Amino acid sequence: MIRLCLVFVLFFVSVLVQSQQNDGYDVSQIHIAQGKTPESMTVSWVTKTSSDSIVVYGTSSDHLDNKAAGETKTYKFDYPDYGMYESGVIHHVTIHNLKPATTYFYRCGDFSLGFTSGVESFTTMPPVGDVNQFSFGVVGDMGQTTDTASTINHILSNPSLGMILHVGDLAYADCDQKLWDSYGILIEDLAKER
Ligand SMILES: [Fe+2]
Repeated sequence: MIRLCLVFVLFFVSVLVQSQQNDGYDVSQIHIAQGKTPESMTVSWVTKTSSDSIVVYGTSSDHLDNKAAGETKTYKFDYPDYGMYESGVIHHVTIHNLKPATTYFYRCGDFSLGFTSGVESFTTMPPVGDVNQFSFGVVGDMGQTTDTASTINHILSNPSLGMILHVGDLAYADCDQKLWDSYGILIEDLAKER
């Protein structure tokens, strides 16, 4: 019994230490964007404070042997109705020389600090000139309502959609910058893979 209690105590201490370490470095709002060619993809995410911008990737989830580095940006926005907003650290990493029509697995974050995403995946576009059928989804006026969540789940349930073309009107932030963050969190499950 004493041994069992000790295990529980150690478990909770470990969770507590983990959550304190994560404070300030959570990798959130992960999203990908198609590059200019089927061979490139940009991975973006946000952390609360400064950290490295690294993506490790590969065609097997067990072997993320390739590595790409990127850059960070921050911004401030002052608006009378909402006061001064200071963004988190916004990371962008563009991966080049990918194979077309290939599924890649990736993790992003700061690997020296140990603050990273889980293993995510995306599939690159078919090669230029490919004549096979290709399905993609088109969304717009997305906002952040229960309808948005329903739309996201609807798309996620259809793995045949190779990419999503978002035609605009994303967060309806209307100058309230915090709404960009809540939108980024809301769409992450979809945006980190298609
Ligand atoms: Fe709109």
